[in-house]
Amino acid sequence: MFSFLSKDQKTGEVAERQLDETNIPAHVAIIMDGNGRWAQQRHLPRIAGHKQGMNTVKTVATAASHLGIKVLTLYAFSTENWKRPSAEVNYLMKLPVDFFGTFVPDLVKNNIRVKVMGYTADLPAATQKAVRDAIAATKDCTGMVLNFALNYGGRAEIVTAVQRLAQQAQAGDLDPAEITEQRIGAELMTGDLGDLQDPDLLIRTSGEERLSNFMLWQVAYSEFVFMTQHWPDFDQTTLEQAIYAYQQRHRRFGGLKNE
Ligand code: IPE
Ligand code: IPE
Ligand code: MG
Repeated sequence: MFSFLSKDQKTGEVAERQLDETNIPAHVAIIMDGNGRWAQQRHLPRIAGHKQGMNTVKTVATAASHLGIKVLTLYAFSTENWKRPSAEVNYLMKLPVDFFGTFVPDLVKNNIRVKVMGYTADLPAATQKAVRDAIAATKDCTGMVLNFALNYGGRAEIVTAVQRLAQQAQAGDLDPAEITEQRIGAELMTGDLGDLQDPDLLIRTSGEERLSNFMLWQVAYSEFVFMTQHWPDFDQTTLEQAIYAYQQRHRRFGGLKNE
């Protein structure tokens, strides 16, 4: 059912590939990178790349849900992205208003539930409202979780979790000996995802091969797939190629290969 055409990066040969439907990664996380370069290559302003990138989010969220992915986490704005020129930041802050304003009916139709992780209290009021409304409108959806990392930073997330645990300890409600990996995991912004909180597959587009402060705790055993396409050029086929690459890996989690 999930077959796609794949072009070999070295030989240019096109082959039809088949995805193993029994090995679809449950949690896929994507660092959506390259919007600015995509636009610059077309002599367009950077924000044109962000706009096109938003359309890609719609395409990819729909495709991911049809593939049976359970959680799709998308890195939309980092705690470091405030360093950009204010016109670009303002545009990025308006995108969720536009995105949810037009896409919520499709999300409901596809049974997709919206989640947002990040320091949302620091977002402009209109952005916060768009996020709140989308979460409320999709709260009864039982299919894929579409998790946006918005004003998110992996280190900040860990700091916040540690502060909370320290407060509980100080109040006498937590014995430091009870601070386990599970306990820390539960305090992170993915804690509500339970067993699904760690990405199985992490994709980064645009050729950059770094994490840029994304899900530092949760990616301990994720498979990384770096792709050269800029995010606005990403689509269902590129997603399937990344999943195909994932399916060729042997996850060992520190144990031995199980052949
Ligand atoms: C990713 O694209 C989107 C955000 C970080 C908000 P970029 O804006 O980082 O695009 P490049 O990396 O400059 O090309
Ligand atoms: C990471 O991309 C953040 C998002 C995709 C939202 P950046 O473009 O901000 O990362 P760096 O600056 O290249 O590391
Ligand atoms: Mg970038």
